Amino acid sequence: MISLEHIDFAYENGPYLLEDLTMTIYDGDYVAIVGENGSGKSTLVKIMLGLLKPNHGKISSTFRRPAYVPQPTDLINKQFPITVEELLDFQRQVLKIRAKTSIEAALDQVGMADFRRHLVGTLSGGQFQRVLVAKALLGQPDFIILDEPSTGMDLRSQDQLYPLIHDLHEQKGVTIVTVEHNLRYAAHNASSFFHMVEGRGHFCTPDEYIREYLQENGGNAHV
Ligand SMILES: Nc1ncnc2c1ncn2[C@@H]1O[C@H](COP(=O)(O)OP(=O)(O)OP(=O)(O)O)[C@@H](O)[C@H]1O
Ligand SMILES: [Mg+2]
Repeated sequence: MISLEHIDFAYENGPYLLEDLTMTIYDGDYVAIVGENGSGKSTLVKIMLGLLKPNHGKISSTFRRPAYVPQPTDLINKQFPITVEELLDFQRQVLKIRAKTSIEAALDQVGMADFRRHLVGTLSGGQFQRVLVAKALLGQPDFIILDEPSTGMDLRSQDQLYPLIHDLHEQKGVTIVTVEHNLRYAAHNASSFFHMVEGRGHFCTPDEYIREYLQENGGNAHV
């Protein structure tokens, strides 16, 4: 479980982006965070992960092995001359996992085992994203946050990624948070939506979100 209570957050010299935000995510939940560009979704997940510190408020988490797949635009230098296998091996050592076979197992799960000797800089955006998901899976996480995981992925890769997330949730009981613009998959998989508006957010069903979205956009937006 992770609970955020009365969180206020501003970037340095910026306005308050999150104001009095309170939310709890329970073990086994699958929450899709939705909302407009700039509404603070990525900021919120970075606060959950402890990568950003709120100005006020309290966070408590019982998860022991959180994992994070950042938003593709937020990324690390892909030109770094390192192979897929080396990237995962580095993470394996950070996590002090003994078995090297864990690397192949994680790559297998995302259908990227054949690419293990490729330089990460030569991968397509969607392939690289799948490698990052494999990296997140290495530590057998009990909580995974994926920020717009399908951005840059073709439909086939998406059709591979979402069943994988679905299985982690359903079969392994992993708690999932995704930031989503991909409403089709999110509505299909998530147990609830968390709609970010004006520095706060609220839980709702996919149908409620679509109604709210249409209201905000004068009733003629494309969802
Ligand atoms: N490191 C930073 N320093 C200052 N301002 C930032 C920083 N990161 C984000 N912001 C600002 O905070 C606001 C929210 O950004 P955030 O990335 O959380 O939005 P988002 O909901 O994830 O948007 P998107 O859907 O485009 O990914 C934006 O106005 C952004 O410009
Ligand atoms: Mg974002």
